[in-house]
Amino acid sequence: MEYHFLSEKEKEFFRAKKVILRAGLNVPLEDGKIENDFRLRAILPTLNFLLDGGAQLTVIGHLGREKENNLESIFLWLKKNLKNRKVTFDPGTFREEKIKNLSEHLKELTEKLEEGELLLLDNLRASEGEKENSKELAEKVAPHFDFYINEAFPVSHRKHMSMDALPALFDSEKRFYGFRYEEELKVIEKIKNPESFKKKVFILGGAKIATKIPMIRTLIDKFDLIVLGGAVANNFYLEMGYPIGNSFYDEDFVFEQEELSKIMSSHKIFLPQRVITENGEKNISEILPGDKILDISPKSFESIEKDLREADFVFFNGPLGYYEGGYEDGTKYLLNILTNPNNFFVAGGGNTASIIFELKLEKNVDFISTGGGALIKAISE
Ligand code: 3PG
Repeated sequence: MEYHFLSEKEKEFFRAKKVILRAGLNVPLEDGKIENDFRLRAILPTLNFLLDGGAQLTVIGHLGREKENNLESIFLWLKKNLKNRKVTFDPGTFREEKIKNLSEHLKELTEKLEEGELLLLDNLRASEGEKENSKELAEKVAPHFDFYINEAFPVSHRKHMSMDALPALFDSEKRFYGFRYEEELKVIEKIKNPESFKKKVFILGGAKIATKIPMIRTLIDKFDLIVLGGAVANNFYLEMGYPIGNSFYDEDFVFEQEELSKIMSSHKIFLPQRVITENGEKNISEILPGDKILDISPKSFESIEKDLREADFVFFNGPLGYYEGGYEDGTKYLLNILTNPNNFFVAGGGNTASIIFELKLEKNVDFISTGGGALIKAISE
């Protein structure tokens, strides 16, 4: 679907226009409180641009996967962070029992909106129609708006109503990407075409190898060094004939032999040889049946340290160890070397962003993608 980009110069473009903005509002919550507001901060420039320019703005999004979830916490955050703005919230907008009268309800709500005001509708996923990409649901929403803005990069891999059927009902000149979405697209372009950089390093950790192999496929010819870690590496160890004991790996994943040979014969692939297990540090060839690999030992990286320090472009995707369980030495070691002012460092995918924040390394990180699965999919395509 074709989208236009917003122009910062055309400040009044949306004045007195009814704008619907699909935002990526899915933030981690702890006891109902927002644990990390990174995704929300990322969309503030677009919200401020629209509100300053006098748009009558309606924001839609989801939170988590449960139908019962509501966006109250997001509403409170927006109220606090959009100072001097009137921000209102419509609880339960997309609940099934309300869908029948949704069109009339939205008409009433949007007619009340003044220039520079923001209305937040409630959890889209309260309605099955969202995930089902229901055209019928989209048709109840679209007529009340002049423009559709997509500022939900983290959801770009989901063909849901708010991302597909709804924008399809707007003429292409009425469809825009938000500023953040545009930035994400530019960085993806850089990752997929990094030729202007001299030494490009890709760190690939985390789990779910099936979703990550396509990224190796896309990037193996473009990067100079690909460092494997996490549960992804365990699948490789196994395939290379190393016993991995009780280590976690993706049992359902089967390598295509031709592809595996291509990957493993590439001098660019670095499969670490020193690992941390529950029973201490070991060489990968020494793993016993009861051992569980939980991290990569920093010693593994001694032979490539020079290359890592020389990298002028780094794409970091996924932790190298069982980070949630406190096994973080390998990840910390690499991040400490690689987050420096002399390179372009991009982090993203899965829980990579939260690691950067936990380690307080964001200062030397040039871009943290708001996308998890969305980023992986966009790179793999
Ligand atoms: C998000 O909003 O974070 C993404 O859509 C991922 O969540 P999902 O897997 O529930 O779609």
